Amino acid sequence: MAQKVGYTEEMRKSIEKVEETRDRRLKEVFERISPEEKEKLLKEWHPDYRPEGKRPLKIGPSKGLMVPHEVADLIEAYPLIDPDQIDLSKIDYDVDILIIGGGGAGAAAALWAHYNGVPADRILIVTKLRFGDANTKMAQGGIQAADRPNDSPLLHFIDVMGGGHYANKPELVKLLVKEAPLIIKWHEELGVIYDKDEEGNMIELSGGGTCRRRLHAAKDYTGLEIMRVLMDEVLNKGIPVLEFSPVIELLTDEDGRRVTGAILWNLETKEYHIARGKAVILATGGYGRLHIQGFPTTNHYGATMDGVVLAYRVGAKVRDLDATQYHPTGAAYPEQIVGLLVTEKVRGLGAQLVNAEGKQFIYPLEPRDVVAAAIIRECYGRNKGVITPTGMRGVWLDSPMIELIHGEGTIKRYLSAIYRMFARFGIDPTKEPILVFPTLHYQNGGIEINVNAQVLDGNNKPIEGLFAAGEVSGGVHGKNRLMGNSLLEINVFGKRAGISAAKYIRNATPGKLTLNHVKRYIKMLKEAKIPPKRRAPMILPEYRGEKVLSRAISLFTP
Ligand code: FUM
Repeated sequence: MAQKVGYTEEMRKSIEKVEETRDRRLKEVFERISPEEKEKLLKEWHPDYRPEGKRPLKIGPSKGLMVPHEVADLIEAYPLIDPDQIDLSKIDYDVDILIIGGGGAGAAAALWAHYNGVPADRILIVTKLRFGDANTKMAQGGIQAADRPNDSPLLHFIDVMGGGHYANKPELVKLLVKEAPLIIKWHEELGVIYDKDEEGNMIELSGGGTCRRRLHAAKDYTGLEIMRVLMDEVLNKGIPVLEFSPVIELLTDEDGRRVTGAILWNLETKEYHIARGKAVILATGGYGRLHIQGFPTTNHYGATMDGVVLAYRVGAKVRDLDATQYHPTGAAYPEQIVGLLVTEKVRGLGAQLVNAEGKQFIYPLEPRDVVAAAIIRECYGRNKGVITPTGMRGVWLDSPMIELIHGEGTIKRYLSAIYRMFARFGIDPTKEPILVFPTLHYQNGGIEINVNAQVLDGNNKPIEGLFAAGEVSGGVHGKNRLMGNSLLEINVFGKRAGISAAKYIRNATPGKLTLNHVKRYIKMLKEAKIPPKRRAPMILPEYRGEKVLSRAISLFTP
């Protein structure tokens, strides 16, 4: 049973101010800020724009690219294994398509490979923890698809490009938005239960940075619902899944350019196993658990950027890894839930962001990077945040407004996960606002891919046998993803990767298994005089001795 902490006396005084201004704010139309103001706000207050948080990569196909120190530390780390000590002669698993990652992108890739003629037992999904332990399940607010008469894929395209600061790869965005309505249809056929009104029409809300209502949701556990159905479908089709088996290295043929399999590490027995695959699909997710710049995170325990590390050693190019998504509304109080996601849907349903004095300071549905920067400025630049007993600062998300706008019971009905998360600690979001501060949510960039989800090398040529989908890849979201486009991306590009791999294996023979690319990479590390102090992939984060939260707070404290 969780302790019912409730709010402190000091916080209650601030809540009184929030309550005093609520009626007036209900009628207030808050002006959106101009593009110039946005740029200024981001430059001054968004963590991505702090030059001391980054450094250029020293080696590899994206040498010179600015990335967060935490990312460079892993990309410039030595392997976990000594390539000369691994016996590659005994193959433990021999399949046509090896899928690394058991979240939504991996599941979708497996299904579409199977629908395209690959027998279930010629596919293998390997996953670090349990099948479904991934950010997909933790996605709350919804999935975007332009499927209403007043909307179109073109409008969706414009929103995605604008949100991403036009750094996105347009050909990937085009696919994302065109396929979206088909993905929703596919989900419904499989049994995903989306929210509908009494006439059976989809209930669609707005997300930040979107010009139309196109967010399809299953209450506030949309990812969990989608993953439930995808997992069922994978298991019903008989596609094998190997759990607790993270990949610690890819395997390549003799010249180290074609991917032919992977080395798996059994977390329980501490033994390695060799898996051969004619095609390998990376669906390993992102880097939330690297706690970039010391931020807390919404992410699941396994989000340690393993796929980027492994692909880079083979020669994959990476992009936009300097752009980290800080979700504006992570829980800031009570301490037990700091950093956990408070879905954007709360704002989509009308809750405003207000400071300690009860004043609204930003239009709540600006793109995420803008809202996150505005909250940080309010707390640390203008000193108008609420201070918690642990010294953390936050602003109010005025959730009771939702009940006033949409009627009593709306929160319990459509935001049941959020209601439960706070009610356990004696905070009732139907009656009291909740305290929030930005939290690390998403890796905007990643491995460079083309429209067929093939991984590209430094010359923009596909690396044979290697495909990637989902958060591990970059280009779809540019520098800033909009809400509801990650659940969409894992489906669209998981599908794409599955179909492309199924086509590829028709003419591919099983390849030789070597670690020549790893030997080449170690040589590069040594030539760059990088000492063998760090090892990667990380596999699981290490928390002993870490002061995650206080480091983020100290970044902004004047
Ligand atoms: O706010 C949210 O519910 C998060 C959704 C997303 O990142 O797409």
